[in-house]
Amino acid sequence: MSQQADETTTVAITVDGKEIEARKGEMIIAAAERAGVYIPRFCWHPRMKPVGMCRMCLVEVKGPRGFALLPSCYVPVADGQEVITTSDKVKKAQDGVLEFLLINHPLDCPVCDRGGECPLQDQTIAFGPGESRFVEEKRHWAKPIPVNPLVALDRERCIQCARCTRFADEIAGDPFIDFIGRADATEVNIFPDQPFESNVSANIVQICPVGALTATPYRFKARPWDLEIVESTCTACAVGCRVAVQSSSDRIIRNLGVDSDPVNQGWLCDKGRFGYEAANADDRLTTPLVRRGEELVEATWSEALQAAADGLSQIRDTHGSQAVAVIGGARLPNEDAYAWAKLAKGVLGTDNVDCQLADGLPGEVVLGLPRATIDQVCSATAVILMAPDIKEELPVLYLRLRQAALDRGVPLIEIGPQATGLSRYATWSLLHRPGEAAVVVRALVDAVSGVAPSNEGGGPGGVSAADLAGAAELLGTGPVVVVVGRPSVAESTDATAEAIGALAGLSNVAFLTALRRGNVHGALDMGLAPGVLPGRVSLNAGRPWFTAAWGAVPEARGLDALGIMGAAAANRIQAMVLLGADPTSDFPDRTLARRALAGIGFTVVVDLFLTDAALHADVVLPVSSWGERPGTTTNLEGRVTRLGQKVTGAGTTRPDWMIAVELAARMGADLGFDTLDGIAAEIAVVAPSHLGLTTELLARSSARDGLVVPLPAGAELGAENGVEVPPMLTFAGAEPAPPLRALDAYSLRLVTSRALYDGGALVQHSPSLAPLTSGTRFRANPHDLSRLGIRPGDLVRVTSTRASLVLEAVSDMGVPRSSAVVDFNQPDEGAGDLIDATQPVTEVRVETATRSRSS
Ligand code: SF4
Ligand code: SF4
Ligand code: FES
Repeated sequence: MSQQADETTTVAITVDGKEIEARKGEMIIAAAERAGVYIPRFCWHPRMKPVGMCRMCLVEVKGPRGFALLPSCYVPVADGQEVITTSDKVKKAQDGVLEFLLINHPLDCPVCDRGGECPLQDQTIAFGPGESRFVEEKRHWAKPIPVNPLVALDRERCIQCARCTRFADEIAGDPFIDFIGRADATEVNIFPDQPFESNVSANIVQICPVGALTATPYRFKARPWDLEIVESTCTACAVGCRVAVQSSSDRIIRNLGVDSDPVNQGWLCDKGRFGYEAANADDRLTTPLVRRGEELVEATWSEALQAAADGLSQIRDTHGSQAVAVIGGARLPNEDAYAWAKLAKGVLGTDNVDCQLADGLPGEVVLGLPRATIDQVCSATAVILMAPDIKEELPVLYLRLRQAALDRGVPLIEIGPQATGLSRYATWSLLHRPGEAAVVVRALVDAVSGVAPSNEGGGPGGVSAADLAGAAELLGTGPVVVVVGRPSVAESTDATAEAIGALAGLSNVAFLTALRRGNVHGALDMGLAPGVLPGRVSLNAGRPWFTAAWGAVPEARGLDALGIMGAAAANRIQAMVLLGADPTSDFPDRTLARRALAGIGFTVVVDLFLTDAALHADVVLPVSSWGERPGTTTNLEGRVTRLGQKVTGAGTTRPDWMIAVELAARMGADLGFDTLDGIAAEIAVVAPSHLGLTTELLARSSARDGLVVPLPAGAELGAENGVEVPPMLTFAGAEPAPPLRALDAYSLRLVTSRALYDGGALVQHSPSLAPLTSGTRFRANPHDLSRLGIRPGDLVRVTSTRASLVLEAVSDMGVPRSSAVVDFNQPDEGAGDLIDATQPVTEVRVETATRSRSS
């Protein structure tokens, strides 16, 4: 929190004659509000530093010379302080402030998006003078002007409260909107030719106390009194921000951030805020499709489900369970993921199940790590970042980490193959050669225990001994949290897993897993990974318990997504279910994904859209989207929160869990539930990490911010039917990563980067977000570019064993030498075409291209 108050020390103050308890260090306005006394305000915001700019919050505060008018947002509480908020003097001050604010305000409330929910309107009515003495012509500006593609600015309405400018500077670290000019020519604006480039930009719309800032996708769409609201959790990434979903005429038209103190503190990223557009897309799948010859044709649900059940059963019965695979599921709510895990492992009998697409970390590693919450990261003695670019992949976590570094002085130690959005706040940035994370981490851990690193060969992984020694000094005492993810999908997880194992050996260490997909943590918890069963238990440890609960579980550990793709390409997997996953765009190795899909005999796609994979499917089943169904989701902390249903599902779409129940029934099995509550009740007694997590518990007001599993009370629940609750996984370390071969002078190791605005279904089906994708770039260290005779801006040919692309070269000091960074997830061709996922690290050759980029 920006305004630091000590919650443990209290002081007594008197507000309007009533004694109240205030937290030491907090401002009068906040203490009064908690005691039920509302003091009007415009510039004050509980999540930002006070500026005392608007004077709307003037109150009388008693000092040595008696009572004086002071801004209550700018004066901290003090023991014995006396405050008056309702005197004539205060009233006169409020009248005056509002009269001044309205001198230039256009009063275009009838056509202003804020009309009906505007603090200026509301406070003018509640605290204002009733009429104005000013009759002069008001100031005029061109209106509105775009500050970026998502936000419009109407300067005439601005009351210069500096909320937007402070958000941009203090919270986002993207200070591209500011005050310009002086006196009555003062205006808030962006700099010439510099848009407000920020992936959290529309928070300024939500916090602007007037209609000066409006969201372009929402302008003129509705009036506040038309809106219906339900609270939910954003699942566009794994942070799990709380959000108020608003609809009009059964269509979602706005998302607003809800202040969940342990998670998003009111903020949303722009993808999460506007991604609802995908649910409204015209090309949503609304009816099932089945293949008739070369074509996919519309079918009834009954026909499509029967075709899917017949196809899957036939392949299982002919080729065995190991010929069936289920990929995806990180989009699904927890209950749906559980239903699909039970169908796959309990009915189809396959453990070839993976909710990740070889772009995250092995499920057993994630599930076995000691976990930290976001709050614990933000109060750690030191944070090690071994993750992708958090600013792009988990934007609101980025805001929390940035603030922890700046406001609380939490030292960040970044270990990765390229600079990220957090590098500028890191105390140490240990940028290493791709594929060599484990070497760096082992040297760091050795340095913590007093073994000095060596500088031989440029230092471990290319990191200098001095940097390693400096970073090591920050470790070893106090709690350390490792934020860990997949820094680059152009290398295998071996080195990262080995590095995690080495870090797990530090004392007092916990992990926050920075996997990006919306409910990937929930899907892993529910067993959608090979070798595990619901509740964070291994297949072997959970076998007796789940055999008793389900009737059967797979006999042997199955394949992960990479293994499934390899087996499918070799015709050893005959049937595949794709749960909201399209390997041709999500799997790191596009060549292998295409070969795999071509090798599959029978494919069922369960999705929102007709993806590339769906075009080749045998059965396509359309599902309900976020906002169209209830359930729960789990964020990267393991925090389970409730999803709200706001609108009816498109067309004949159904929730994923219902499809699993129906398919099981058509295969002659009974999953044992036929309602969402029924699934939740089963999870609460069957999944060891979720024991005791009932729907009733989650619905309590005390669980408004969700509940982090496992619940302390869950451990008290014991054996059922004489079978002991299986122990949860613990990560015991990984095998050493295989050595990498030395690079020749013409090769670079490939690193991938991801952008928030990507080629994925959510962005590409959201008209406001799709144009924000940057396209694929090639970035390399200036030293390597000049060594290879390439100038920035040149077209270069980047060639791997898989493909050859022509891209524009960008010089970037944040890329270590001998590396090449190519975007992974843009709509055009990119790193996915180059990556060979069977190699520890993909190598590329780079040369000046003679052809144009489009050739
Ligand atoms: Fe305040 Fe809105 Fe003006 Fe920004 S645009 S200074 S938030 S009134
Ligand atoms: Fe949604 Fe993630 Fe953005 Fe939060 S950070 S609003 S969870 S996409
Ligand atoms: Fe206190 Fe603006 S709210 S000066």
